[in-house]
Amino acid sequence: MKNRTGSLFIAGVLVVAMLSGCAGGEPIPAEDEATGDTGSLEASQQEASAEKSNDISQKKIGICIYNFDDNFMTLYRNELVNYLVDQGFSEENITVENSELSQEKQNKQIQDMIDGGIDVLIINAVNTSESATITDMAVGAGIPLVYINREPDAEEEQRWVDNGWEVTYVGCDARQSGTLQGDIITDIGLEKIDKNGDSIVQYIMIEGDPENIDAQYRTQFSVKALEDKGWSVKCLFDEVGNWDMETAKALSKEALEKYPETEVVFCNNDAMALGALMSIKAAGRTVGDDIYLVGVDALTEALDDVIDGSITGTVFNDYFDQSHRAAAATINYMKGAGNDHYIGCDYVKVTKENAQEILDRIK
Ligand code: GAL
Repeated sequence: MKNRTGSLFIAGVLVVAMLSGCAGGEPIPAEDEATGDTGSLEASQQEASAEKSNDISQKKIGICIYNFDDNFMTLYRNELVNYLVDQGFSEENITVENSELSQEKQNKQIQDMIDGGIDVLIINAVNTSESATITDMAVGAGIPLVYINREPDAEEEQRWVDNGWEVTYVGCDARQSGTLQGDIITDIGLEKIDKNGDSIVQYIMIEGDPENIDAQYRTQFSVKALEDKGWSVKCLFDEVGNWDMETAKALSKEALEKYPETEVVFCNNDAMALGALMSIKAAGRTVGDDIYLVGVDALTEALDDVIDGSITGTVFNDYFDQSHRAAAATINYMKGAGNDHYIGCDYVKVTKENAQEILDRIK
């Protein structure tokens, strides 16, 4: 505790020093700082150290990804590293760890990176409910922290605000993705969706990791979009597919056998929608004809399926925008410019009309 307070104090002094050295968000050039009575040797030392602190090619970034097997986070991770390199970071100064679904492992990776000397941490937490531990490690060591993709809860985010810590979250609001999934279905119209004509939409839901706010909100808000249009809905089956294609394939097989009256399959992401599609085909059902299927992410394979009609629609989870914003937040912290504690972005509804356009953007 003593140590932590000590480093917090040092971190605080550094932040104040960096901020007071800024005019309009930009650091004062070394030359300006070195004017006045300062001796020339001292001035050139100051210049050298100021240059060093602004030279991002020398800066070390530590990144932890919750699970390298996740398709979407693989696209995100690759884009993040490429973009950081484009911005001037050197690849050998960027450490990327696979936390392999273990928060314990991730905490150790973070501690090791802190001990080894790191300038900024970019963390995709395994269990967001344990984010406070990660934040305390980073803040205690005086290291700015950028959370990505898996949003910590409101109470945790409030601590960053209340303490003025250099901690931020970069991501989209998952409620929007759920709503857009529901909109894709309501845009088609109840007459088409309601195959058995009972004026109730029978659906199945395949959820991502239940601890993840993206999974919780997509599950809730996709259905809410139907209800908000005055549609009646009936949930036949709701199971956890953990963002995984094979798991979703097995779950949808089971659901479609038990509930042939299924009219809509909601999947919290595209990997699971691709799995569900295999079982839909195997059950002799046809998307767009006697069943409707939606996902989230806009993976290339899913976009191809949206274009040929075998997936009704998806929602673009813009990993370009998110990773670029995460990189910008990292650079801001390094320059002492600071960041808001929440950096948002927008999801985009994808149907047959714009799927090719999104595909062209990501290819
Ligand atoms: C979601 C994404 C999922 C999965 C998850 C991991 O935003 O839609 O496919 O990658 O993040 O937290």
